[in-house]
Amino acid sequence: MICVFFNVHPVLMLIGLVIMGGEAIVSYKALPFEHAKKKLVHLILHAIALVLGIIGIYMAFKNHNESGIANLYSLHSWIGIGVIVLYGVQWIFGFLVFFYPGGSGELRKESVPWHVLFGMFIYILVVANSALGFLEKLTFLESSGIEKYGSEAFLVNFTAIVAILYGTFVLLTALSRAPAEDNHHYSAI
Ligand code: HEM
Ligand code: HEM
Repeated sequence: MICVFFNVHPVLMLIGLVIMGGEAIVSYKALPFEHAKKKLVHLILHAIALVLGIIGIYMAFKNHNESGIANLYSLHSWIGIGVIVLYGVQWIFGFLVFFYPGGSGELRKESVPWHVLFGMFIYILVVANSALGFLEKLTFLESSGIEKYGSEAFLVNFTAIVAILYGTFVLLTALSRAPAEDNHHYSAI
């Protein structure tokens, strides 16, 4: 029963911060909507990512507390706390400056490059910290007896590789040139 709490930790962290957070970032490049709608999608997907991330971390703590394991002893957990705090701060700043009440034109213009830079930095930390989590989990499993070249070990390592590839494509998409605004008109080919 207690283990169930731990198992939801990687699932929520991956679905939340890695996948939803990644979709939020690519929304500006991938969606055929006008800018204001893309901004709303960006904001909402990041909010879902943040909430799932907070629940996922709560589950890891709950598991540790109920099984008498110490908290916050690993590099993964320290970076994890840093990541969730930065994600929350980035969301609040983004909301206040770009959405409501919204900064002046000058402030928005000056903030965008910093927002993009910090956003990418936080997302890189998210993906890297997931890899650390997989590494840690597999090390625990191997020291409790699973085979080093067994199918569970491959599953954990390949899931980590898939997460890293996904994150790489999110960043490449964010770095790519924005498509021209779609005017929703058909044209003769
Ligand atoms: C970016 C996403 C992630 C964040 C922010 C994160 C954060 C955290 C935090 C804060 C803890 C500490 C809980 C405590 O001390 O009670 C923790 C524990 C743990 N996490 Fe993650 N995690 C993430 C993804 C993952 C993934 C994908 C795995 C893969 C299995 C994982 C495996 C673990 C393990 C094994 C522990 C317990 C050992 C420890 O405290 O280091 N995590 N995580
Ligand atoms: C933790 C939450 C957030 C992260 C990690 C994040 C990350 C990013 C990233 C990486 C980009 C660059 C996307 C690209 O150029 O393709 C971006 C752009 C942007 N974000 Fe966020 N963001 C977050 C929250 C928010 C919030 C809450 C708002 C409020 C509306 C917001 C508004 C914007 C705006 C206006 C842009 C500029 C789009 C443009 O015109 O190029 N962000 N964000």
